[in-house]
Amino acid sequence: MADHIMSTYNRLPVQFERGEGIWLWDSEHNQYLDALSGISVCGLGHAHPAVTQAIADQAGILVHTSNLYGIALQAQLADRLCELSGMERVFFSNSGAEANEAAIKIARLYGHGQGIDNPAIIVMDNSFHGRTLATLTATGNRKVQAGFEPLVQGFIRVAYNDLDAIRTVAENSNDVVAVLVEPIQGEGGINIPDDGYLEGIRRLCDDNHWLMMLDEIQTGMGRTGKWFAWQHGSAIPDVATLAKALGNGVPIGACLARGKAAEVMQPGTHGSTFGGNPLACRAAIAVLEVVEKEQLVPHAATLGKQLLTGFTIALAGLEGVTEIRGLGLMIGIELDRPCAELVGKAIEQGLLINVTAERVVRLLPPLITTEKQADMIIEQVCELIRDFLTG
Ligand SMILES: Cc1ncc(COP(=O)(O)O)c(C=O)c1O
Repeated sequence: MADHIMSTYNRLPVQFERGEGIWLWDSEHNQYLDALSGISVCGLGHAHPAVTQAIADQAGILVHTSNLYGIALQAQLADRLCELSGMERVFFSNSGAEANEAAIKIARLYGHGQGIDNPAIIVMDNSFHGRTLATLTATGNRKVQAGFEPLVQGFIRVAYNDLDAIRTVAENSNDVVAVLVEPIQGEGGINIPDDGYLEGIRRLCDDNHWLMMLDEIQTGMGRTGKWFAWQHGSAIPDVATLAKALGNGVPIGACLARGKAAEVMQPGTHGSTFGGNPLACRAAIAVLEVVEKEQLVPHAATLGKQLLTGFTIALAGLEGVTEIRGLGLMIGIELDRPCAELVGKAIEQGLLINVTAERVVRLLPPLITTEKQADMIIEQVCELIRDFLTG
């Protein structure tokens, strides 16, 4: 059926025709609970009426002009994102990888401005930053890189959650200009660093005149129970990247910057045809309004605690469960063995989950999930895991 689609994906044997809230329906009218949100994208669930209305309205007014001209909706969205984040300037892209490309270019321009000819960015083991050549080089997963050599120069890799490893690089290299890190590693297995890790990176960046760059593409937009995951602590980055949930499925990414990082891009240094067009910006403005109006950021925090407690109680003492961890609605249940087959088993039972880093069941339910629906997720997921481990 999909003979003409390039085979970049191992697709699951299901396709969806319709969605509403946390529910999806396939072509045979079977119903599924979506506990993955299109991998942290549909925070407001499917077909949220306010977002649907905004997209439909804007499609009837103006979809695209060009970044050759001013775009009022882009300026409005940038203002709001800066209010929420404390950042000062925003570049809009169409995806997460492109938002990170903008961050990488900012770091390099910043470095050249300091007289560093071969600027290097510190990146982490087990990270994920995208599939373009620069972002796959930044990504700490050989599977993502293999076959695409030569990789891009100018990245130095260290262990995640290890400030000493960054200190060692600081002592041995004069070319570093930035650190790029996920506040919680998503694809890497929902890896939550120790308290103080981001603050430690902030201090190292200040001491060495580096930019602190946070990839909030999976963690941002309320998912962890704060608008941005760094807001759980006191460190504020110089650069932060967003995408995924920003448009609730309408493709839009953003690279936010403040202070010295906000000033390095000049006319002609970067650009995008579609980036920040009126349709995408109108959708994202609607998303921000709904998240605020429906108080979904505190709701994500409360619901996350409910899920974490529920899983911890329900799976207590079950041999094979190594760790249950999460922040807000970003939850990982690590098993002692590879468990990718759980994804297909869940689909057979009308549930969408994901397995990442081979052994981590990853849940990223929509922010609009109710307490009752969260209980359904706990029950279904625990039953799956119990059957898998004991069956
Ligand atoms: C942390 C992180 N950064 C970057 C990306 C890449 O985003 P995109 O697929 O929109 O290019 C992802 C996607 O999963 C991600 O999780």
